[in-house]
This record gives sequence, structure tokens and C-alpha cells, in this order.
Amino acid sequence: MSDEKTDAAVTYSSYLKIDELLTMQQPRSAGPEHDEMLFIVIHQVYELWFKELLHEFDRVRRLLEDDEPHRAQHTLKRILTILKVMVAQLDILETMTPLEFLSFRQRLDAASGFQSDQFRQIEFVLGVKSAAAIQRFPAGSRARLELERRHAEPTLWDAFLRYLSREGYSIPESHLNRDVTAPVEPSPEIERALIELYRKDSKNAELCERLVDLDEGIQEWRYRHVKMVERTIGAKHGTGGSSGAAYLRETVGRPLFPDLWEIRSQL
Ligand code: HEM
Repeated sequence: MSDEKTDAAVTYSSYLKIDELLTMQQPRSAGPEHDEMLFIVIHQVYELWFKELLHEFDRVRRLLEDDEPHRAQHTLKRILTILKVMVAQLDILETMTPLEFLSFRQRLDAASGFQSDQFRQIEFVLGVKSAAAIQRFPAGSRARLELERRHAEPTLWDAFLRYLSREGYSIPESHLNRDVTAPVEPSPEIERALIELYRKDSKNAELCERLVDLDEGIQEWRYRHVKMVERTIGAKHGTGGSSGAAYLRETVGRPLFPDLWEIRSQL
């Protein structure tokens, strides 16, 4: 008998690991409080979307490295569609009132989205590099190893600049060979190249616009998250130990790709 015949047939449940998945929602509050289930499910859903986004960001970077701008744009479109869904999902959590959240909040202890390593990985891929963010995770843990790897990798912006250089744009060596563990900073030389590109190269200008969409999409999520935080906990400190909404407000409106925004007033 072949191995194929002895194996149990794949089912919906075995393929998707439904039994395991459904055991992973474990409320901590007494009762448990009704809204804690929503709180757990929505965070788990976000972590799955974070995983998918990282998978797609790796693809966009590879496609740029392979000089495949059309396919990179196609993948960026998928990423943007996911981001829209991620922003829209905050509406669901906003149906939870401050008192409903308070009914189980103290059971979260110090747990907070602030500790999401996948969110930090997304920031790293998009150029928000921070060695301090890595130190918060235990040495040797999955999270720490992933963050260390991504910290040392070029960002999406680095891959884009290298692609532009191969397309004939004047991108200084200092950018092409920069220390990729440093955050992405604005640059007048890159802005000059981008202005030239926008004026004469509609193919690559489209690609730039998709990167602006991505940047705006992430900013939109940050804005909607802080508004949800304000309406749920007001000015209270976060469970992660930050000043809460005040800390989050500082991260809103900070662009990922500042050059793409700066050139708009010069076009
Ligand atoms: C009632 C709902 C929520 C509240 C009250 C809330 C509150 C907060 C607060 C106060 C912070 C600042 C860090 C801290 O001190 O804890 C934070 C950070 C964060 N939260 Fe939420 N959050 C909520 C839902 C969510 C959801 C559904 C996600 C999705 C994964 C999420 C992801 C994050 C992330 C990624 C950060 C870090 C942001 C950064 O450092 O830039 N949060 N949250």
C-alpha cells in the first residue's frame, strides 16, 4: 500500500488545524467577562494579518531586487487591501465600551500590543529600525531571533533605492551602501532624483504612489488605534507601561518614507 493511501484524507479541519486554533482563546477574567473573547480574537486576527503582511513585504523586496516593478506593485496592492481591512476591524473593537474593557483590563497585567514582535518586525522592514526594541525580548526567543534577523536586513526603501539606481537614477553610494540597521532618514539628494522621476517616468511614479499609499495606510492604522485608545481608556497609562494615548500620538503622522512626502511641495 502506498503512503498516500494509509494517510488520513486531508479535511478542512486537519488542513487548517481548526481544533488547535479553537483552543487558543483563553480568557483570564472570572466569569469570564463577555467582552474578553472579542478582545482576544481580534488581537489574534491582527497577529495573523501581521504574519501575512511580513510574508508579502518580503516578496515586494525580492521583486524589487529582481527588477520586477509591475509584480512588486501587484503585491503592494494586496498589502494595501489587507491594511484597509485591518483599519476597518478597529470598528469592531470600538463597540466595546470603557466599562466593558475595565471589566477585565486588570487581568492583562503588563500585556500590551507594545510587546508585539511582529509589529516591530513590520516597522523594521519599513525602515523604523530600533536596537532598543530588540532588547525588550528575551535572548534566544523566537521573537528576538526574528527581530535580530530583520534588523540586519535592508528595508523596503533600501531595495527601492537600489532598484532606482539600476533604472539609471542618481542615487549616491552613501545611500546604496548605508548601514541598514539605522532608521530611514530624509535626504535632499534622493528628493532630487524623485522629482526627476515624477516628471518623466510614469511607470516608476506609479510605484512611488503605491509606497505613499502604504505609508498613509500605516499612519491611518496608527491614527485609528490612538483614537480607539482615547475613547476606551482616556488619558490613563497603558498596560505596557507607556503614557498611553500621549505616547501613541507621538507616533502618528511620522512618515515612513519622508522623501516621498517632501517632494510634493516641490513638484
Ligand atoms: C481596547 C483596545 C486597545 C487599547 C485600550 C489599546 C491600548 C494601547 C496602549 C495604551 C498602547 C501604548 C503602549 C502601552 O503602554 O500599553 C498600545 C500600543 C499598541 N497597541 Fe494597542 N490597544 C488596544 C487594541 C489594540 C489592538 C486590537 C491591536 C492590534 C494588534 C493593538 C496593537 C498595538 C500595538 C502594535 C502597539 C504598539 C504601538 C507603538 O509602539 O507604536 N492594540 N495600545
